[in-house]
Amino acid sequence: MAEILGICGSARKKGNTAALLKEVLKSTGMESELIFLSDLDIGFCSGCRICMKNRGKCAKDDDMKGLIDKILSSKAIVLGTPNFYYDVSGLMKNMIDRTVSTSYLGIGEYTGAEWHGWRPLVEKTGGIVITQAAFGGEKAEDTFNCFAEYSGLNLAGTVIASFGSQTVNEFPEYVDEAVELGKKIKKRIKGN
Ligand SMILES: Cc1cc2nc3c(=O)[nH]c(=O)nc-3n(C[C@H](O)[C@H](O)[C@H](O)COP(=O)(O)O)c2cc1C
Repeated sequence: MAEILGICGSARKKGNTAALLKEVLKSTGMESELIFLSDLDIGFCSGCRICMKNRGKCAKDDDMKGLIDKILSSKAIVLGTPNFYYDVSGLMKNMIDRTVSTSYLGIGEYTGAEWHGWRPLVEKTGGIVITQAAFGGEKAEDTFNCFAEYSGLNLAGTVIASFGSQTVNEFPEYVDEAVELGKKIKKRIKGN
């Protein structure tokens, strides 16, 4: 499985989020894979709590199982989303919600709270890409920060890029930021 996993919360495969994610992945120089959540069948978390009682096994049998395997076996995950109404996209939020089962796998660091379980991503590096027309991305960043705090993911950095109605081609400075984020992620992993 890939060392660096990019997860795209935009369904536009040639959109700005995908373009910046590709730059981050490429600049790590490591083996990577970019996944589009829109290609996967991931149902909503129903809050049934079966994962809490069943050592992290989710009641739903869908593509989240394979995605969790990829997340857990990667060295870093890079999460990218368009800002939709001042927050992450529904695709991304749904994926975040469904990672809750990993808190009960018994891996990572125990939180001391039975309801919270473990922080499974304490050994993992993370990166964030948020694209938008103009404003509101800070709240999407908050959502990712909460996910990182909850899961233990160690964030190396966040890129928030405002494109108006244009594309990455008109904004080389955001490509530079994405490249820098990729280099930071590599440094965190390899230590040089
Ligand atoms: C449903 C929806 C809500 C949006 N809400 C915002 C917003 O609150 N603030 C903003 O600056 N852009 C907003 N946008 C614009 C997108 O964030 C922006 O076009 C983004 O770069 C699209 O990413 P993509 O090219 O990867 O699809 C919204 C777009 C859609 C479709």
